[in-house]
Amino acid sequence: MIVLGIETTAHTFGASVLRDRDVLSNVWDSYSHPERGMIPAEVAQHHIDVCDVVIKNSLEKAGISAKNIGLVSFSQGPGIGNCLRVGATAARAFALHHKIPIIGVNHCIAHLEIGRLVAPGCIDPVLLYASGANTQVIAYDSGKYRVFGETLDMGVGNFLDQVGRLLGLGFPAGPKIEEYARLGKRYIQLPYVVKGMDTSYGGMYTKIRNMVADGVSEEEKADICYSMQETVFAMLVEVSERALAHVGKKELLLGGGVACNKRLQEMCTIMCKERGAASFALPNQFNVDNAAMIAWLGKVMYESGVRMTIPETAIRPYERTDDVEVVWRS
Ligand code: ATP
Ligand code: FE2
Repeated sequence: MIVLGIETTAHTFGASVLRDRDVLSNVWDSYSHPERGMIPAEVAQHHIDVCDVVIKNSLEKAGISAKNIGLVSFSQGPGIGNCLRVGATAARAFALHHKIPIIGVNHCIAHLEIGRLVAPGCIDPVLLYASGANTQVIAYDSGKYRVFGETLDMGVGNFLDQVGRLLGLGFPAGPKIEEYARLGKRYIQLPYVVKGMDTSYGGMYTKIRNMVADGVSEEEKADICYSMQETVFAMLVEVSERALAHVGKKELLLGGGVACNKRLQEMCTIMCKERGAASFALPNQFNVDNAAMIAWLGKVMYESGVRMTIPETAIRPYERTDDVEVVWRS
């Protein structure tokens, strides 16, 4: 079966063509801004502007004609309403025009399922899902993906982006923070907040904001990025380890844009090695928001018997990971 996947939960408009288990193309165009984050209407306008070209490029790169697509899959939620609506509309138009089935999928679950596709040996993982808007520790149990821990305030990526804004690093700031962190020499103590398997970043943000209120040198920037990464990632590794121990699983999968960070990957590898577990980091194209994971989850759901009518494809901006019945695994 050949599937077209469409992703639009936030800053990325992505389109991917998948044939059986092969990702033939995974193309995207992301909104970015040199000074500030996302204004929903502006990001949605970006998606409207690029949707045609991105879908066309995806088909071309895959060498597949639109009429050979057998299923359209799109991210139904959670995400920014304005942005989700663009993807849902594009998917509906494509499905109705070509008279093919359509499936809306949960974006967070797609981050986990893509790991089960592309990482050999990753079968029943705990997912450390660290993206802009989301920070969750997720694992499958009794018919659902259960959230064992999550952020109590902002997503870890949004936290990094907000600090990046204070430091003048542009948006998204994660990759720049990683570069600066490599140059850091001095560890600065920052608030470390873990409650059970939940984390919180507000205190750390306030402390850094106060530290840089009167300006900051390049050297200080590097020390802040280094200290922030060490602290935040230690928190994430701690909750991941607690989840692994709690559910008795032996695999940790990293997902979400923050999972591109090499230091986070390294810390997870060390922790897993020490407890006899395996740590899986995916190629970056499958960590960040991408349509390949949407195409793959749509296919898995379709093959397990899930069907949707057009009215059922209404967007679900607030859908939680544990709202979804995981019929394809039970
Ligand atoms: P979701 O809808 O799943 O919450 P998202 O819209 O936040 O996703 P992603 O592409 O998953 O999008 O993640 C983007 C985040 O990842 C941004 O906050 C960005 O700063 C962060 N990020 C990207 N690369 C790195 C990196 N190398 N180190 C740390 N953070 C990174
Ligand atoms: Fe995402």
